[in-house]
Amino acid sequence: MAIPNPILNEIISSKKVEQADGTHLKLTSALSLEECEALYRVLRERKPKRVIEIGMAYGVSGLTILTALEENGEGTLTSVDPYPGWESARKAALHNIERAGLSARHTHIHDASERVLPKLCADGERADFVHIDGHHGFDHAFIDFFYADLLVNVGGIIAFDDSGWRSVNKVIRYLLRHRKYQELDVGLPREYRGKNPLVTLSKRLEGRFGTSRHFEKIDAWAAPFNYHKNF
Ligand SMILES: C[S@@+](CC[C@H](N)C(=O)[O-])C[C@H]1O[C@@H](n2cnc3c(N)ncnc32)[C@H](O)[C@@H]1O
Repeated sequence: MAIPNPILNEIISSKKVEQADGTHLKLTSALSLEECEALYRVLRERKPKRVIEIGMAYGVSGLTILTALEENGEGTLTSVDPYPGWESARKAALHNIERAGLSARHTHIHDASERVLPKLCADGERADFVHIDGHHGFDHAFIDFFYADLLVNVGGIIAFDDSGWRSVNKVIRYLLRHRKYQELDVGLPREYRGKNPLVTLSKRLEGRFGTSRHFEKIDAWAAPFNYHKNF
């Protein structure tokens, strides 16, 4: 499904991002076109009202989400990103969201997810869709998942980008074992190819594949206090 946003499509095809002064930055970090299209399809089908994304970078995932919400005629997006050392990316992302006429549905929180997500939980926030694509270290990815799970409603979705990374894959394995989620087929291929044959083999053995993977929360169950003491 093509995404009806000429600014987004131009960014993806040129791999350049316009800045407010008309000059361009090189696009060095973003979802692929296929991942954007998969994300767009899911959001058009599910029509979430509250979306949170962790990791905004140059705004490619944000523009994809906001375009879907605009086409749906409802919904808002909160993007969390501390932008350590790359203020230019933050300004360019916000410039293009503004240029695309999508700012009214958008809030950017300029801070790290490990500080923002607990606060959103404490404020009683809820979400229908959380896109995790921030700091990809295991500790950060796990904390993002832990709070995303507290925030997301039953029937809502948590999506992980870079799901073939060992750190992210460990979090996904935890989610599938210790929470009640089911994976959605969003039409993306199972890609195991690594940078050399050994990495490809280890990815196959560990079941680490993919680019983006999406999981629907089917029940709010989580282990109660003391649950693990007899294992
Ligand atoms: C892979 S990029 C995100 C790409 C973006 N989702 C897109 O497709 O356009 C990762 C982003 O995570 C952000 N990041 C790094 N540490 C973070 C943290 N602790 N919390 C939230 N975001 C973080 C980086 O600043 C960077 O913009």
